[in-house]
Formats: sequence, C-alpha cells, structure tokens
Amino acid sequence: MEKERLDVVRLSEDDDYVIILDQTKLPNKQKYLYLNEEEECWKAIKLLQVRGAPAIGVFAAYAAYVIARKMNHLPNEQFLKEYHRMSEYLNSSRPTAVNLSWALRRMEDTVNANKDKTVEEILQILSEECRKIDEENEEMTRKIAEYGLPLIKDGDGILTHCNAGYLACLGYGTATAPIYLAHEKGMKIRVYSDETRPLLQGARLTSYELAKSGVDVTLICDNMASAVMKQGLVNAVFVGCDRIAANGDFANKIGTSGVAILAKHYGIPFYTLGPSSTIDFNTPSGEEIKIEERDPGEIREMWYEDPMALKEVKCYNPAFDVTDHELLTGIVTERGIVYPPFEENLKKLFNK
Ligand code: MRU
Repeated sequence: MEKERLDVVRLSEDDDYVIILDQTKLPNKQKYLYLNEEEECWKAIKLLQVRGAPAIGVFAAYAAYVIARKMNHLPNEQFLKEYHRMSEYLNSSRPTAVNLSWALRRMEDTVNANKDKTVEEILQILSEECRKIDEENEEMTRKIAEYGLPLIKDGDGILTHCNAGYLACLGYGTATAPIYLAHEKGMKIRVYSDETRPLLQGARLTSYELAKSGVDVTLICDNMASAVMKQGLVNAVFVGCDRIAANGDFANKIGTSGVAILAKHYGIPFYTLGPSSTIDFNTPSGEEIKIEERDPGEIREMWYEDPMALKEVKCYNPAFDVTDHELLTGIVTERGIVYPPFEENLKKLFNK
C-alpha cells in the first residue's frame, strides 16, 4: 500500500516528544507537531489534530509516556498521584471513542502493577508499553485486512463514511484495511467516499489517503449515497467505529446510521470494522454511549470564506450517531467476523 504514506503518530528519537501529523491541515499541508505538554496533547485530541479511534488511543499512550518522563524528579508517591491526574485529564478530551480510555487505562494499570519500583524503572516499563500498544494496533489492522478480504470481489464498489483509514487507525486502517490488501493483491476496487459533513474527514482524509495510495476513489457528497447505491455501484459498505456496545450497537461519525438505513433499503451488506479495543462490554447498548457535541461554528462557518448561515441561527452538532445492531451485517475484528446474534457471538469470540 506504500506509495506516498504519511507518518501519523510516533515518538521522537530521544523520546522527548510525541510527533503527530496535524490532520486539520490536510489535504493541503503536511505539518508535524512536536508535543510534550499535557494541555497541548489534550488540545490535539480535542481539535482533531490527531483523530480516529485507534490513532487517538496510540497517541494517548505515547503522550502519557512523554509527559510522565518530565515527572522523573518526583518522589515515587507523588509521581503516582501526578500520573493519575494527568491521565484523567487526557481522558477528558473526547468522550465517545473508547480507545482513548482503553489505552490510558492500560498505561495506568502498568504503572500500578509496578508502583513499588523506582520512577526511573516505571518510566522504562511505560516506554515499552506504549510501543507495544502501537505495534499491536498495527498488527490488528493487518488481521482485520485479512478477515475482511473475502468480503470483496474484484471490481466491487465499496462505500465508506468518514475516515477509518491509516490516518485514523495507523497500519492498514480498519474500514480501508481489506481495500488496501485487495489493492496490494492487484484487485480493482472502486471506493465511494462520503465527504462527511461538517468536518469533511471523507473529503480531506479518506479520498486523500486512498488517492495517494493509488486506490480508485470517488468523492461524493453525503446526500448522494442513496443515488450511488440505487445505480448499483455499491456492493458493500465498510465503516469504522468509535465504540461498539455489548449488543453490537455502535457509535461512529455522524451520518453512519443513515448510511446503514440506506444500505438495508437497497439490500447492500453493511459492515463495521474495528479492533477489540473499540468493543466496550461495559456498555450494554447504544443508548448508554455518550455522544460528543461540538461547536456549532463547525457547521456555520468552518471551511467557508463567509459564514453559510446567520450567526443567530441555531445549529445542532453531534459528532457521532449510533447505528442499531439490527442494521449490521457483521463486525470485522482482528479475531474474525462476528455475525448476529451479536451479543452472544461477541462474548464468545472475546471469551467474556
Ligand atoms: O471525529 P473523528 O474524525 O475522530 O471521527 C472518526 C470516526 O468516526 C471514525 O470513523 C472512527 O474513529 C473509526 S476509525 C476506526
């Protein structure tokens, strides 16, 4: 899939910084940010400079580590207290993608399991743990690619919403994983990328990364999905996920549930693809998923030279919606594909 591939999240060579590609500047500029202050790391997540559920998780793990390194002068007990406070703070940046709290919890569990060691030793263990999270994530995208590959045939059209490619998930991405693998194998796949209002992740990011990787991608406005499906151009829908509840309901970028309803209407298989770190067995159904609400200005004036609505016009801007599990054909994970009944089969696959 290499053609022109950008580094999304990584550590600097001296471990002093976590370096991210600022995704708010794509597709027109490639700008990298060097971060090691907790406020700037919090803001990087909040402002979507780093975004997409798995990428946020990997970033948070690296961020926690580089910030913790600056606490190396603290006595052990105070280090543990400060670490906990910092981790909670990072976790408050965005509520919906469970990978954020998953990665921070895993890092803090590592701290707690080694709390009797010296701060220097704890930092060494954290340095290994955040790298492991990154490597495991990369490997999981490859497995999702392999499990998802048999779902597509040469010549198929796949519709996707938002960005669940390598910019959001690293590696092969998740929704894009089987597409990249098919492409590597010489299959011809046509991708329809919803532009994804209001923040245009489909236009700015998905069509960017697929086009740069040599995949045939066509950008459509969100309200064109029905027409494209009706014309018979779409054989399957692949989307990512920010949190999968125990019953298979899942949160993903606003607009996903509408695409699922359309797919059902036209009899098109609809899959979500995501790693086990996105499955939240503690959340029984979509009803309990907290949905982030963002600044109305993102609808009214962002991206435009002049505002597209009067300042006094009310805008409602939920960043995600919940797709009912009844609309889902299957969930592609790094351990295999889960089909209905989801509650039972998710538990079986993950030994819960
Ligand atoms: O607000 P964003 O850009 O972080 O939203 C991203 C999405 O909704 C992706 O589809 C989701 O994180 C899945 S990526 C595996």
